[in-house]
Amino acid sequence: MSVARSDFKKITTNSVQEMKRNGEKISMLTAYDYTLAGIVDKAGVDVILVGDSASNVMAGHETTLPITLDQMIYHAGAVVRAVKRALVVVDLPFGSYQGNSKEALNSAIRIMKESGAHAVKMEGGVEVTESIRRILTAGIPVMGHLGLTPQSIYKFGTYTVRAKEEAEAEKLLDDARALEDAGCFSLVLEKIPAQLAQEVAANLSIPVIGIGAGAGVDGQVLVLHDMLGMTHEFHPRFLRRYLDLYGQINGAVQQYVEDVKKVDFPNQKEQY
Ligand code: KIV
Repeated sequence: MSVARSDFKKITTNSVQEMKRNGEKISMLTAYDYTLAGIVDKAGVDVILVGDSASNVMAGHETTLPITLDQMIYHAGAVVRAVKRALVVVDLPFGSYQGNSKEALNSAIRIMKESGAHAVKMEGGVEVTESIRRILTAGIPVMGHLGLTPQSIYKFGTYTVRAKEEAEAEKLLDDARALEDAGCFSLVLEKIPAQLAQEVAANLSIPVIGIGAGAGVDGQVLVLHDMLGMTHEFHPRFLRRYLDLYGQINGAVQQYVEDVKKVDFPNQKEQY
């Protein structure tokens, strides 16, 4: 099967929209630090998301709610310093935009100014469109996020598949159209039925990037630490593990401990 792959030297919000028009799928992964972001960028991923999932995978919190704007800016700055080609999108963390549209604009400006990122992402539908419009007045591109929105976990109560019922599915479609009308350049759909996600992608002209949303969307995103097999206790159906880094790192560290204990490390060549 031939794979559509354009030759963009640097990915912009226009490039990802062009990919959708050309039928080229968009690849997106999270990253939170300089070293891994550099590897991911060099490997050719189109979009790097500095997700608020950093709250879980980097800081060990149970939810994404505790991570602060300052912490997101710290992670985003490290990623931006490593990236040469990918579009870097940064999550507006919980509590940094829900208050009002001025607060949302100020938070987005801080992210862009202090980290050098290229766009921000925010969760929510119609209720955040005023903030999206205000952020856009400052020339900051915005990515939307619908379906399972982890910042609202205490409203929903579980991380199960969203929009299975007709009323919720219709609301999601309306919200998606509202986000496009408000000026979002792209939209993430998390953990919703594949058929609904395909319908949303077909109804919007902006690229729709899915996580647990099937193959009928315009691109895919995964959390890097999950797809590399570092978070070995997390097994959602949508997750494909490309490595077992947990096992490999565990094995390497055990070997190191053994080598140190039996004075096999360092050997003659490894000392001065
Ligand atoms: O924070 C994150 O990693 C995300 C992705 C799951 C889309 O929002």
